[in-house]
Amino acid sequence: IMRESLRDWLTDSGYQVETAKEGHEALKIIAKQDFGLLILDLRLPGGDGIEVLREARARRPQLKGIIITAYPSIQTAVEAMRQGAIDYLPKPFDLNQLEELIRETLGPVQLEIRPKAIAEAAVAEPTVVEEAKVEEVILVAPEAIPSHLRYISDKSTLIQMLLEIQRQNRWLSEDALMWVSKRLDVPLTQIYQVSTFYKAFSLVPQGRHSISLCTGTACHVRGAPRLLDKVIEELKIKPGQTTKDLQFTLNTVNCLGCCALGPV
Ligand code: FES
Repeated sequence: IMRESLRDWLTDSGYQVETAKEGHEALKIIAKQDFGLLILDLRLPGGDGIEVLREARARRPQLKGIIITAYPSIQTAVEAMRQGAIDYLPKPFDLNQLEELIRETLGPVQLEIRPKAIAEAAVAEPTVVEEAKVEEVILVAPEAIPSHLRYISDKSTLIQMLLEIQRQNRWLSEDALMWVSKRLDVPLTQIYQVSTFYKAFSLVPQGRHSISLCTGTACHVRGAPRLLDKVIEELKIKPGQTTKDLQFTLNTVNCLGCCALGPV
C-alpha cells in the first residue's frame, strides 16, 4: 500500500516513477536506466535496504537515496548516511517533509520537461501493529524527557534540549534522541553528529559520581599510575567505564592545571 501510494502521489506531482517489490528487482531496473533518487525501506523482502542502496550507488554513484523505516535506530541511521543516503525518515513520516527533500534533490517539476525519474524501490509494508509500535516510541515522550521540554518544538533549542536531557539522566538514550528528532523535526543523523561531537554528551549511561584521574606528566611522575591501578582494583572498571550500580564512572584526563598537588 505504501509503495503504491507513494508512486501515485509522486506521479501526480509530475515525477516519473518506477517501483520494485524487492531489492534485486530494483537493482535490475537501476542497471538499465538512470535515476535521480532511490527511496527504499530499511527492511526489504529478503534483503537489507542499506545494502541495496550501497550496490545501487556502486553502479550509479550520482544516485541519491532516502531510507524510510518503521524500525529506526541510530546505528542504521549512521550506516545509511555512510552509504550515501541523503536522509533517513522514521515512519510515520510527514509527506511534506518527503516532498521538500525530493524537490531539494531533484529540483522543481517543470511543466514540460519532467525531472529525472525516481526509483521507488521495494517499500516493505509493516503491519498496522508495527506502525503503532513505532509511533509510540517516537511520539510519546519517553521517561527520559523532562516534562518542561515536552512541548518545545523550536529547532534552535536542540543543544539546550540535549544538555537538559543529559543533565537529568546523565546520558542520552536512543529513545530520547529519536523523540527529540521527531519533536524538533531534525534528522536523527544530525542529532547523532551533535551528540558525538561535544564531550558534554554521553550515549552510554554515566555513573552518579564522575572520577577524573589525571595522567599528565607531573601527575605521572608523582604516582598517578599507582593511583589509577588502585581505583581500577577497587571499582573493577577501566577508564571510560561505569560501575554496574551506576554509582561511579572513571575517566583519565591529561592535566587539571594543579600539577603541584599531583597526583590528582
Ligand atoms: S599533570 Fe596532573 S594536574 Fe597537571
